[in-house]
Amino acid sequence: MFDDKKVLFSGMQATGNLTLGNYLGALKNWVDMCNDYMTFFCVVDQHSITIRQEPAEFRKRARNLLTLYIAAGLDPEKNCIYYQSHVLEHAELAWILNCYTYVGELQRMTQFKDKAAKHADNINAGLLTYPTLMAADILLYQADLVPVGVDQKQHIELTRNLAERFNAIYGETFTMPDIWLGKKGRKIMSLQDPERKMSKSDENPNASIYLMDDPDTVRRKFKRAVTDSIGEVRYSEEQPGISNLIDIYCSCTGKSTEECESEFRGLGYGVFKEAVGESVVSVLQPLHERFDELSKDKAYIDKIIVENADKARYYSEKTMRKVRKKIGFPERPKI
Ligand code: TRP
Repeated sequence: MFDDKKVLFSGMQATGNLTLGNYLGALKNWVDMCNDYMTFFCVVDQHSITIRQEPAEFRKRARNLLTLYIAAGLDPEKNCIYYQSHVLEHAELAWILNCYTYVGELQRMTQFKDKAAKHADNINAGLLTYPTLMAADILLYQADLVPVGVDQKQHIELTRNLAERFNAIYGETFTMPDIWLGKKGRKIMSLQDPERKMSKSDENPNASIYLMDDPDTVRRKFKRAVTDSIGEVRYSEEQPGISNLIDIYCSCTGKSTEECESEFRGLGYGVFKEAVGESVVSVLQPLHERFDELSKDKAYIDKIIVENADKARYYSEKTMRKVRKKIGFPERPKI
């Protein structure tokens, strides 16, 4: 809570190619929710260096992600859109929280275990303390609500534990954040294996729709999407492929599951898949146009970056002044 307004905080990493799943499951929800909160949407670039990044490519991806936040419909005059690395308080609070976090708590995190197995040659300390940096992101802004994917649930629970632990020692300092897992908690699944989540890093290029895919690629991937032999457009557990396509169609058109089922009753999968493809194209095309336009306006994006980092710093300093004082750090001379 800041200035009597509820705060919503979320962030994304600029690694890999963003998918339709990232858009429908995260960005689009942020846009739908942003009017009811004071919001902070962060490009969490400091989290990304727990895995090696190629510097030039990394810088470009981070800027593209920040631009995409705006292209998706988040007005940067109203929503604070910024880079994590521009606000030093994130790293400062992360260090402090590390001193209130048990190594055992971090070692238990499933994401740490997965990433450690995947990058066995680089199990760096940052990979282990990734969740305390994430907790710092959230607690710095006194966030009330944090929309994230279900894979981040454990990290939010840790954040809540840390807030509670710190508040118990020093008195009320941090707002207790709530997790928001999305409408009905449904995920967008792979088009080739609908039992698996649509992923940024799938080896099969037909499995994921990338946000930057051109219209023909999108249409082709939907034509090839895996379905079943039942032959009915119906939302059911026996039809994971079709159910996923229904979710995508409803998300893109705003229609309900029932409306979708009756619209395609008796029409066959070919017609349905084509319609799903078109519904996605009609969402992605304006997104591409806005993205291209914004990308060309370098001065505008630069100005947003400076102004919003200032705003983020203003609010994070409010929290940090309290934190430093409560811990007992010496007062800072005015600079
Ligand atoms: N760890 C999150 C993810 O991979 C990204 C993230 C970092 C985040 N800090 C955050 C999300 C704070 C929400 C709030 O999806």
